[in-house]
Amino acid sequence: MSDTLNRYYLQAMGIDLWVLRKPNPSGGQDLSALAQEVAACNRCALHKTRTQTVFFRGSPQAKLMIIGEAPGFYEDQQGQPFVGKAGSLLNQMLQSIEMVEEDVYIANVLKCRPPNNRDPQADEIAQCSSYLARQIELVQPHLILALGRFAGQFLLNKPLPLKQLRNTLHHYHNIPFIVSYHPAYLLRNPADKKKAYFDLVTAKKLLIENSC
Ligand code: URA
Repeated sequence: MSDTLNRYYLQAMGIDLWVLRKPNPSGGQDLSALAQEVAACNRCALHKTRTQTVFFRGSPQAKLMIIGEAPGFYEDQQGQPFVGKAGSLLNQMLQSIEMVEEDVYIANVLKCRPPNNRDPQADEIAQCSSYLARQIELVQPHLILALGRFAGQFLLNKPLPLKQLRNTLHHYHNIPFIVSYHPAYLLRNPADKKKAYFDLVTAKKLLIENSC
């Protein structure tokens, strides 16, 4: 008997149907509801100068989550992270380890562009941090790749320089993460691209080894 017919007979007999639901760790809020909340955010002054908020690109089912710093000019215009020059480099870097946009979930520490692409300020990070924390909770990635010190410091909750953040397997709420160079830094310092490539190879190995 088909499922539909079976349901029809049970309903006709007045028997309540129970549906097994996947538990939602964030207490019911899903990613699209969170994106809407972010789009209306005015917690810090950046909402006054943004064109729009920037939430994510890629796949919410991805095993690898990539976290950058904050939207730049093109991200603010298009509403997606890493779509400018740094984004092109990030795409090429992913291709070098045979990954495409659908294999990753990309987000930023800040959801709004800081004016003139200045560094995020501590109060802006503090106001915005619960959004990224909830994105991680909802996506449940198997591995996180933090790009640059702001993403690394957010996950580790320690103000360490990038040098001390790299080359170590850290954990954020039991989710393993590694820290690498930010693509914008690599555009200015191409000599470090080789080291960034090895970080990516490490990420890929971790995903495979842990059958992530
Ligand atoms: N740099 C980032 O950190 N994030 C973006 O989305 C773009 C540039």
